[in-house]
Amino acid sequence: MVNTTSAPSGPSAPAALTKVSILGKETILVGLGLLDYLVNDVISNVVASTYIVVTDRNIARVHLSPLVNALQAEIQRKYSDSTKPRVLSYVMPPGEAAKTREVKSAIEDWALANKCTRDSCFLALGGGVIGDLIGFVAATFMRGVPFIQIPTSLLAMVDSSIGGKTAVDTPHGKNLVGSFHQPERIFIDLNYLRTLPFREFVNGLGEVIKTAAIWVEEDFDLLENHPEQILALSQGADGGVDSEEVQLLLRVILGSVRVKAHVVTADEKEGGLRGLLNFGHSIGHAIEAILSPEMLHGECVSLGMVREAEIARHLGFLNDVAVGRLVRCLQAYGLPVSLEDKIVKQRVPHKHCPVDQLLDIMRIDKKNQGDKKKIVMLAGIGRTVEPRASVVPDDVIRKILSPAMQVTPPSASSSVDIKVPGSKSLSNRALVLAALGEGECRLHGLLHSDDVQVMLDALQKLVGITFAWENDGETLVITGGGGRLRVPSKEVYLGNAGTAARFLTTVCALIPTGRDGIETAVVTGNPRMQQRPIGPLVDALRNNGVNVEYRGKEGSLPLEIKPNGSGLPGGLIKLSASVSSQYVSSILISAPYAKEPVTLDLSGEHVISQPYIDMTIAMMDSFGIKVDRVNGTNTYKIPRGVYKNPANYYVEADASSATYPLAYAAITGSRVTVTNIGSKSLQGDAEFAIKVIAAMGGKVEQTETTTTVQGPTQLLPIETIHMETMTDAFLTASVLAAVAMGKTTTKITGIANQRVKECNRIAVMVEQLARFGVTASELPDGIEIQGIDRALLRNPEGGVKCYDDHRVAMSFSILACALPKGGNAIIKEKKCVEKTWPAWWDALQNKLGVSLAGIDLEDEKQELKAPAANDAAKSATSDLSKPVINDATVVLIGMRGAGKTHAGKAAAKAFSRKFIDMDHYLEESLQTTIPEFIADKGWDEFRRQETVLLGEALTKFPTGAVIACGGGIVETPEARRLLKNWAGLEAGASRRGLVVHVKRDIQDVSAYLSQDKTRPMYGEDMINVWNRRKAWYRECSVHEFVIVHSDAENWPAVESDLAKFLTFILTKQQGGSSVLPGNVPAPPSDSFFVSLTFPDVEQALPLLDKISEGADAIELRVDLLSSHDEESVGKQVALLRRHSPLPIVYTVRTKAQAGKFPDADHEHRYNLLVAGLRWGCEYVDIEIDGFSHDQLDALVAAKSNSYIVASYHDMTGSALWEEQGHGSSLLGNQKAQQSVAIRFRDVYDKLNPYADIIKLIGFATSMEDNFALQRFRASLPAAAKPLIAMNMGSLGQLSRALNLVLTPVTHPALPTRAAPGQLSIAEIYRLRTLIGLTQPKQFYLFGAPISQSVSPALHNSGFTALGLPHQYDLAESSDIAFVKDTVDAAVKAGTFGGASVTIPHKQDVIKHDVVQHLTPAAKEVGAVNTIFSREDPATGMATLWGDNTDWIGMHSAISEAAASLPTSSADQRTQVIGVVLGAGGTARAALYTLQRLGCDQLRIWNRTPENAAPLVSAFGATYVPDLSTLLAPPSSTTSTNPSAIFYIISTVPAPAQSQLGLDALFTTTHPTTATGVVVDMAYRPKITPLLSIVTKNTSWTCIPGIEILIKQGLKQFEIWTNRKAPEAVVRENVASNCTKEGLPNPKLLPQQLKLISVATMLKSIPLVVVDGSLDIVWDNLVVCLDTRQYMSPVLINKSFKSAVYRRRKWLMIAQAAHL
Ligand SMILES: NC(=O)c1ccc[n+]([C@@H]2O[C@H](COP(=O)([O-])OP(=O)(O)OC[C@H]3O[C@@H](n4cnc5c(N)ncnc54)[C@H](O)[C@@H]3O)[C@@H](O)[C@H]2O)c1
Ligand SMILES: [Zn+2]
Repeated sequence: MVNTTSAPSGPSAPAALTKVSILGKETILVGLGLLDYLVNDVISNVVASTYIVVTDRNIARVHLSPLVNALQAEIQRKYSDSTKPRVLSYVMPPGEAAKTREVKSAIEDWALANKCTRDSCFLALGGGVIGDLIGFVAATFMRGVPFIQIPTSLLAMVDSSIGGKTAVDTPHGKNLVGSFHQPERIFIDLNYLRTLPFREFVNGLGEVIKTAAIWVEEDFDLLENHPEQILALSQGADGGVDSEEVQLLLRVILGSVRVKAHVVTADEKEGGLRGLLNFGHSIGHAIEAILSPEMLHGECVSLGMVREAEIARHLGFLNDVAVGRLVRCLQAYGLPVSLEDKIVKQRVPHKHCPVDQLLDIMRIDKKNQGDKKKIVMLAGIGRTVEPRASVVPDDVIRKILSPAMQVTPPSASSSVDIKVPGSKSLSNRALVLAALGEGECRLHGLLHSDDVQVMLDALQKLVGITFAWENDGETLVITGGGGRLRVPSKEVYLGNAGTAARFLTTVCALIPTGRDGIETAVVTGNPRMQQRPIGPLVDALRNNGVNVEYRGKEGSLPLEIKPNGSGLPGGLIKLSASVSSQYVSSILISAPYAKEPVTLDLSGEHVISQPYIDMTIAMMDSFGIKVDRVNGTNTYKIPRGVYKNPANYYVEADASSATYPLAYAAITGSRVTVTNIGSKSLQGDAEFAIKVIAAMGGKVEQTETTTTVQGPTQLLPIETIHMETMTDAFLTASVLAAVAMGKTTTKITGIANQRVKECNRIAVMVEQLARFGVTASELPDGIEIQGIDRALLRNPEGGVKCYDDHRVAMSFSILACALPKGGNAIIKEKKCVEKTWPAWWDALQNKLGVSLAGIDLEDEKQELKAPAANDAAKSATSDLSKPVINDATVVLIGMRGAGKTHAGKAAAKAFSRKFIDMDHYLEESLQTTIPEFIADKGWDEFRRQETVLLGEALTKFPTGAVIACGGGIVETPEARRLLKNWAGLEAGASRRGLVVHVKRDIQDVSAYLSQDKTRPMYGEDMINVWNRRKAWYRECSVHEFVIVHSDAENWPAVESDLAKFLTFILTKQQGGSSVLPGNVPAPPSDSFFVSLTFPDVEQALPLLDKISEGADAIELRVDLLSSHDEESVGKQVALLRRHSPLPIVYTVRTKAQAGKFPDADHEHRYNLLVAGLRWGCEYVDIEIDGFSHDQLDALVAAKSNSYIVASYHDMTGSALWEEQGHGSSLLGNQKAQQSVAIRFRDVYDKLNPYADIIKLIGFATSMEDNFALQRFRASLPAAAKPLIAMNMGSLGQLSRALNLVLTPVTHPALPTRAAPGQLSIAEIYRLRTLIGLTQPKQFYLFGAPISQSVSPALHNSGFTALGLPHQYDLAESSDIAFVKDTVDAAVKAGTFGGASVTIPHKQDVIKHDVVQHLTPAAKEVGAVNTIFSREDPATGMATLWGDNTDWIGMHSAISEAAASLPTSSADQRTQVIGVVLGAGGTARAALYTLQRLGCDQLRIWNRTPENAAPLVSAFGATYVPDLSTLLAPPSSTTSTNPSAIFYIISTVPAPAQSQLGLDALFTTTHPTTATGVVVDMAYRPKITPLLSIVTKNTSWTCIPGIEILIKQGLKQFEIWTNRKAPEAVVRENVASNCTKEGLPNPKLLPQQLKLISVATMLKSIPLVVVDGSLDIVWDNLVVCLDTRQYMSPVLINKSFKSAVYRRRKWLMIAQAAHL
């Protein structure tokens, strides 16, 4: 390869040096080991006084010294005098982030300081970043100095170093400032690639493949055929110049280099040629704009190439084969080919690429022609349609990029010929036969799928065939090896190709002997393949005398086959063929090459899939070997011989695929000919046209190799059709039957196996047909379809859901063609067709003439939208809007007695789902009781039925149900498989629903069960049962719900815990930038979590409300708990979830990270983290140290809706937030320091792939460390993941105040701080205020009279508790002008925070335009009680909003109280009646509230009916004139459902109440069984006349007005500050404020007085009762005055606790105490 003519003097040129010319000069030098050559050339030919080598830290570590030393040595040799040139070096930080003007200036300043002059020369040693930056430095330094490119990354070698483009990035975008400056030399030395990280290497290969794809087909062939060798160098192979890997790599790199050099040179004349190198970049760049930095450039280009090739295919320029080759080639190097790829999903789980956004980004591409988008159009591998990019219309791009396809029926029928893709089974067989055969064979019509590719690669290794593609890949020319086999030098890797694995195992057995040093053949596959069975085949071969060993798991790949000297012995071979017919085919195909003729005996076995065996035998016949099946037996005789390759072999088309175009003809009345399948076919589905279409009235003509259908004007139903021989085609038949009209329905039978395909196809067919308005139902082994007039066919609402099943997608795209004019259907997941017909959509449009449009579905987009932080209307009322819940059916498993049924019922009710108790379901289906069934049929049969029926239930109710299983469901492997399939835990299964293990302490279960005598007892000790099943429950479930403290009294709490848990795990994940997962509302710009530092959560409970005030989440520090035992930790989580409404941050911190968990116990820590995810903790904090990639991937895969906080703590205090470059004068000492120091940037990159949120904690030793941290934060891209970054230590406190996302905080009431320097929320806000980060705001109460208001106490105490600098004051005036002036002035001054509004201004602030916008609530109520300010995102100006929180106060108070009321029984809902007393201003809000609470009936009473009239009509209420009938039972009351629930809201002022005769309310008409909640909006006195009447007559829950006042105030606080109010403090303050004012006048209820006196008498008894309003405390006794809302759960004597909680019981205590 030596190609150098004018080698400079000095050491001779290396063996492989190639010069490439660019712009007329041979300045590109490519080879391996160029160092000597380089220094010689540079020192001799690029004369300079100073050589400045610039590189980055990664590269400096290995490559800087050798280069600098070699340069110096060369100078030493060349220059003898004293004026020797200098060599300086400069090391800069690595990565794109350093490609800035700042780094450029730093280098320039350093060079100037070192007196570098005009005759300096820069050497850019590094990747594209160094090349671009140093090129630019050289271009401008002293108005331009020479520079030399020494690219070290593959990308730099083939792309960035060539062409002279130099640039730096700016905050506005990449490469925006730069110039053209050609390097003097470009030395491309492959040796550098040995240290390049693998991912970077592959990244560069993206560009290499791109160049080959557009320019050099031979290079593409090499890339396609030799991925292992080409990747070898960067995977540690130490190949020398002559090695295969280096030669191949050199060759493909040179290919790219030549193309780039040529294009750069030629482009000056031929404009646009350079644009060709942009193949894959138009779309790739748009993707990169969204997915970088997680995804690298080459990876995005890979995604772009596939899409752009699909565009070319869609436009008819490129064939399917070429797209397939491109896709497989990229995949072979581990590059992503679709946004759904695992690689993409793992790297960027939270970013999405909406089609609109991609098109938007593409619109501003500078390579566009005006508005038109340009894309490089591939015409085949190695060539393009034009010598430049081509203009492509938007709708085409949209069609290809969109996840869904809209199908519009054709306007006229047509007549077309169409070819369908080849059959996979036939392709595989043909390849092996031709490879073993003698002579050349042209295989036509092969399917281009992964499996076929794998087979081809393996055959090459084993048989030594050669092959080539002809006709653009339409034909494969194979020259067979005639049965001469060799031991492959490397393992034969088969991916997940089952057929190849089975066929080739026997082929390996044919190898007679080993060869020099290679004694065995090894066959292996991917992890999934290593699970799949091969045992029966191996057994058969072993019995025949073949040496086969399992290398790993018994019964599966990898296999090691050692030649026995003579190959397969032959003779009688016995085989078990009940698992797979592929074993039979495998032996059949290889049998002719055995030593003795083979007799294959399958007798005594149930042989499955006979048609496939027949297919193999027929094909062997085509290749010259006749197999004899002994009459009527399962014994085959195969003669010895060699296959004779036919000159041409036409692989038959896939008959199942052919059904779609034929069905198209049938449904549209068109004429379609499939040109490559006919009556000669061996495939069952080839009979579809005759047996189905003809029977439905179509005209069918079939030749041996073609099939033509002419569709009728109207399809007819077939009464019953048995499709056992063509089961896959039943979907096609079903869509035809949907529009087949006649006297009967169409029944399709014999297709039971279709329940276990990609999805349950029968159920899916029924479900999706219904969307078109077609009724169908399931039969035991089939489906029945009621055809309708096609005029009645509906557009399927929301689109057709395909369950990732290609056949569902293709079938329904056919049905869409029958829609009436103007109709259309959206087929979701359009990509799924690729499995068997990648070009299906192109064929549908281009061949069949259907018009298609790409759709990015609206609902999917909704999910992706980031919550709008500034959406004021939403922020004010969002707490009541329901999150989007995934409706998949939830299955509960767990021990009997764990509470599955109770909990399941409650959950079903909470989510309005159907509840299915499998015990009942069983008894109903089996028509007997379970004990009887077991007694009769035994346990085995019971378990079998249980599994069958669970499967049935899941089929019938795949969504919208909660199913509680029997405890023993996990006992059989079949049932476990079913559960795991449902949960997506079975390898290859996609998750459809959820399986939750309900786990209750086994002692509690035992106690519970001992009370229940109605159920059969465990036949054995329960602990044994539990120990046996424990692991199974775990294996089958995704989540675990732990039940704690589950006695009857606490059961309601268990139910609400479960509802909370399910809401979280079922809530669809929001995309975008929300910090909080699932249903947790997005926090304001600043958020906090408080760390619990207790050894036991139980201890923290009394303090929980207090310490979590103001916090957005609460951290459970598992490592600080006294027990790390998984069961015990689970209970702690459950306890915390019960007692705090906040999301849980679940953390296991190791000692090395300032925690307590043992550093070395990675396994236990890992298990605890997995458990945290299973328990549905909202955040799980993970330190990745100590875990393998696989473990981390598994954690990410298991996380469901949880967010992973990937964290790192620097305990050494030496980790660096930022890194400066440094020059060679400092090199010695700095280098030492820099190589040990930890850089947060590196840590960040390491954590990023696994994180949803990244947490980096340093240690501040100076204030400067905090500033460095801020600069680090600012250097991250805008779209980076949320970052928690802080410095520990007191000097780091500033960084805590500056961290805005989930700042960890302490609370004064906590025993210890979780970290040194940790602050409380109040401290942080005070600090933020002092440094001006938080601005003090003024808040007002407008109204009159208001002097007695408790609002100032409420809000100001909240502000103080959180350290907020705000002030709330009264602004008393009844003049609305005053209100407007005050607000306007404050807004102008920038001090306006918000305002409360009360009488008389509530309506006037709307009328007088004090506010500019109203929230929906304020609009409907027609009154404003809250004013808040939000920035208008469009103008950046503050705008004022009016809201109404009164109704929220009432709403939440009533719903809380109602939660403990007895409600509906399973089949009857109790009527809820809303009643409003009074018709004043508040009455509107009251009615609005009751309406939102879902009351069945609204009643209103007012003294003057006229005033109530407008309300009656506005809310559809009933006016009741008479108080005595106001609470009359509802008319629907029956004897079986006699009760009713009343929600009463009184808006009548207290003084007026006494005169109304309210006693009349509780007359005889009032049903005694009714219950209710009464809210009195009046709050002075506290116990109003109404409330005392209610208390006297009923045990209903009373809610005094002060409670509503507080609740609406808390809501206001939240709206104004974006922060939950510290409720306990606020309540305390409001209470003492009332007391101070002497309010309310303590007119106590008689019972209360009694208790006080009793208590006074019993002073010595340690009794604690709590009062929220009066603050009356006698020793240990506090008096409980009113409702439970007032009680904070301060320590209360245990037996007393529940009593105090429940008001009704409280009265009993009062009485008891009286005794
Ligand atoms: N000028 C052009 O025409 C042109 C063309 C394409 C790309 N680019 C630019 O190139 C840059 C990307 O180049 P890149 O992918 O080489 O990135 P890069 O320079 O950041 O290198 C990638 C990573 O690999 C490391 N690395 C490089 N060589 C190594 C080696 N031999 N051993 C160990 N580590 C090594 C680097 O330190 C870095 O961390 C982008 O800024 C892009 O804009 C420019
Ligand atoms: Zn590129």
